[in-house]
Amino acid sequence: MKDRILGIMEEHRGGFVSGGELSRRLDVSRTAVWKHIEALRQEGYAFEAVPKRGYRLVQTPDRIKADRLQGLLRTKSFGRRLHIFETLDSTQTKAHELVAAGEPEGTLVIAEQQTMGRGRMGRSWHSPPGTGVYMTLVLKPRIPLHFTPQLTLLAAVALNRGIQKVVDVPVMIKWPNDLLIGGKKISGILLETSAEDERLRYIVAGMGISVNLQPDDYPPELKERATSLAIESGRRIDREQLIASVLEQFEQLYDLYHEAGFAPIRTLWEAGSASLGRTVRVASPHGELEGVAEALDEHGGLVVRLPDGQQTRIFSGEVELR
Ligand code: BTN
Repeated sequence: MKDRILGIMEEHRGGFVSGGELSRRLDVSRTAVWKHIEALRQEGYAFEAVPKRGYRLVQTPDRIKADRLQGLLRTKSFGRRLHIFETLDSTQTKAHELVAAGEPEGTLVIAEQQTMGRGRMGRSWHSPPGTGVYMTLVLKPRIPLHFTPQLTLLAAVALNRGIQKVVDVPVMIKWPNDLLIGGKKISGILLETSAEDERLRYIVAGMGISVNLQPDDYPPELKERATSLAIESGRRIDREQLIASVLEQFEQLYDLYHEAGFAPIRTLWEAGSASLGRTVRVASPHGELEGVAEALDEHGGLVVRLPDGQQTRIFSGEVELR
């Protein structure tokens, strides 16, 4: 039905189509026509509706196009196998399924919207249609299972560099892998691993970027804490270009990591960090603590100097910058 309505609109080439004509040609009531138009609006189509004249299509939704994205890619394998969906519960779930069906490293899953986008620590990820980037990259790294936190940090560096090559905004990394602009979150990363007998089988690296969201696209509880690249830069961002840029950085860093280990990644992470040198409060499974974040250790843990002068290392938990 959706395609038929759009087809009729297309025939009228930007002109008005009356509700009567739509109802007659589709053989449904005018109320049903209105309901379908509303459904299309939810998907990002915009219509002008004028009494007695009908509906006019004024905007089609921004959609990530596979062929354009493929044309922009400068990678060997990352994103070369590409699965784009209109709606998924979560790109993470779909990526797990695709790996089980034999998809290789570098496979990328993208959704225009997610109905159950997952965040870290059991939270959800706000994923409205057509404005964000919700993607999951399949990785099969040749590393021991306990090294995977290093890849979380690598992903943060990749996103940070990939974003800043496309948009001129001051992005900082908050340990372990939140990306912030002016203290507000613009991007988050969720790594999920699959292992067997302590052997790492694969990782699905989920990345969410708030790209073209406007203030009204955020629910009230997120407005204070989240922002988007469009809000911060004052312009609409090309999502395909952004994805290509992040994948290019990701693949380069991933290759470097396999060749030279974590040391160079750690240096790059420290250079982009908003946490180091700052007083942080950490809520970890072992309770709360406050201290000054001093460094990143060789495993990716955050080294914190406590008020009594002792050092401690944080491997999981939530960091709040004071
Ligand atoms: C966080 O900061 O809490 C992590 C957010 C990760 C969100 C991304 S969006 C694409 C992928 N699919 C999901 O369900 N989650 C990740």
